[in-house]
Amino acid sequence: MSAVLESLRVRRGYTTGRGRVDVLRGVDLRIEAGEVVAILGPSGSGKSTLLHLFAALDTPDDGEVLWSGGRVTHTLPDIARRRAEHVGLVFQHHYLLAELDALENVTLPARIRGRDVSREGRDLLVAMGLGERVDAPLHALSGGERQRVAVARAMVLRPAVLLADEPTGSLDRASAIAVYALLRALARERGSAIVIVTHDEGLVADADRRLRLVDGTLHATT
Ligand SMILES: Nc1ncnc2c1ncn2[C@@H]1O[C@H](COP(=O)(O)OP(=O)(O)OP(=O)(O)O)[C@@H](O)[C@H]1O
Ligand SMILES: [Mg+2]
Repeated sequence: MSAVLESLRVRRGYTTGRGRVDVLRGVDLRIEAGEVVAILGPSGSGKSTLLHLFAALDTPDDGEVLWSGGRVTHTLPDIARRRAEHVGLVFQHHYLLAELDALENVTLPARIRGRDVSREGRDLLVAMGLGERVDAPLHALSGGERQRVAVARAMVLRPAVLLADEPTGSLDRASAIAVYALLRALARERGSAIVIVTHDEGLVADADRRLRLVDGTLHATT
């Protein structure tokens, strides 16, 4: 069976005023269904760059990103629909809409694609401990509550892979642990794989694999 997400010799660099920077220098990774993989690494090592490529929000200079065996690039004509079906995205800054309530934030991306997921969205918010906050405007929620809304939004279409870039980076320790635990429980229940980028090695101690991005390639941590 094909891996849900695969990266083959992926390279990506940038040309800046100070010359060429080769950020990713041949990243190979294979993520199986339901697997939880943490990616660690210092600031500037290319973790966000890599996650953008995994989400087909960007295209490698060389190498390939595959979703369930199919090659993807951000320039494919139907990539937005395919992305919505295959991956869920959570960022450090949640990009939710302040004036909408929690449930509207969760269901909006699906609604744009013509799908009514309000029942599923409500169930997810209840599962995330936000049953009392479903109708609350986003600006009335705490940081941890907002991140839980962001996780619910990412999971509502049952993606094969959840890609999370420092999803707990702006939270205090207790909220970070709570959000990560909910994210894991939800992904396990639904069979979604998780790729989580974090600076917090302790947080992801229970991940199936912990990899470190060093000098543009991934290495197993010991
Ligand atoms: N669009 C861009 N143009 C030029 N350089 C970029 C661009 N995006 C990222 N970079 C550079 O690529 C390198 C990797 O950036 P990236 O954001 O992937 O790091 P990161 O590992 O996510 O860091 P952090 O832990 O701080 O979030 C950095 O040196 C950054 O300055
Ligand atoms: Mg980053």
